[in-house]
Amino acid sequence: MFNNDLLNKFQSINTPFYYYDISILKANLDALKISINNNNKVHFALKSNFNSKILDIINSYGFGIDAVSGNEIKKAIEVGFKSEDIVFAGVGKKDSEIQFSIDNNISYLNSESFQEIEVINKISSKSNKITPISIRINPNIKTQTHKHIQTGYRNNKFGIDINDLNEVIDSSNKFKNIEIVGFHFHLGSQINNNSPFLKLCSIVNEVNDLFKAKSINIRYINVGGGLAIDYSDPIDNSISDFKNFINLFNKNIFLNDKQILHFELGRSIVGQCGFLISKVLFIKKSYEKNYAIIDAGMNDLIRPALYNTYHKVINITSKSPEKINYDVVGPVCESSDTFAYDYPLPITNRDDFIVICSAGAYGQSMSSNYNLRNKLKSYYSDAI
Ligand SMILES: Cc1ncc(COP(=O)(O)O)c(C=O)c1O
Repeated sequence: MFNNDLLNKFQSINTPFYYYDISILKANLDALKISINNNNKVHFALKSNFNSKILDIINSYGFGIDAVSGNEIKKAIEVGFKSEDIVFAGVGKKDSEIQFSIDNNISYLNSESFQEIEVINKISSKSNKITPISIRINPNIKTQTHKHIQTGYRNNKFGIDINDLNEVIDSSNKFKNIEIVGFHFHLGSQINNNSPFLKLCSIVNEVNDLFKAKSINIRYINVGGGLAIDYSDPIDNSISDFKNFINLFNKNIFLNDKQILHFELGRSIVGQCGFLISKVLFIKKSYEKNYAIIDAGMNDLIRPALYNTYHKVINITSKSPEKINYDVVGPVCESSDTFAYDYPLPITNRDDFIVICSAGAYGQSMSSNYNLRNKLKSYYSDAI
């Protein structure tokens, strides 16, 4: 995909920058769209990428937004998403964020503690409203993902302990200014096997029965996101397996009349369309190690430093048939500013272009100005 034509275009752009391949984004959105049925609705996890052009395209497919801050709700509305297509999760919602979501009549708030439900009720009462909420449950399911992106296990801060659910429902049901319209889970991110999702389905069915027994009309069952992408082979495997993921839930969750199954996908939609494009500043050898020092840093893509994650790295300029191992590092003053250790690359020289793949999700959205470095510009395959 990084042919001479594209390389020539890159030559006139100041590195580093983010490059988004819009055809990969659309191929994922098409694949998702044909995998869902009338009882399904997808809310894109805006935290994974809040780039306006990408959000515009996602909006054009009719998907909604999963927001985790007042500013994310604001951004979604500014881009043109309808309020009724926005849901709001997060363990620590400020009063002002709750007020903002109530004022904007969003679909529902995923409430993560009893105290939060109490506060929503209070704020709602002052506004003379009845606010739809969904109860986020921590199902105590372990996932084989990095522990920092696991969210549904007993020692994670998210959701309400499933053992307290009965009591929380009964106490919340007494509040006059909230209505429980759904329940919610999110097990974590980059989950690449079905077994935790299958466990989740049986818990969903039990919880659904519990609400039914209490005559509470649950309209939305939200199973979160978490579908993994292929970081090792992103070029050949750029489209996520939405069919298997969505089917698994549709087959194993028994919906009651008119219930809708909600999904909150982020990484699997935008992960593979984004690339971090950088240039080699210097090559050096130190204590037997070869370093390729590039102009992108951990502040532009923090995942390797934060989660020790693998990203495929490609030198798109070197013609050398010989490969040697490099530590691919950035200019930031931290030793964790390393994109790859002992990574085989063709002989690499100053000014070569280095591409870091699978940077579309939790890349630009997690970037910072650390070391007072500039935030990066974005370029798009259909407008470059
Ligand atoms: C509540 C919630 N829903 C959905 C997602 C999206 O997860 P993913 O990008 O793995 O699909 C996240 C991300 O961690 C999340 O916190």
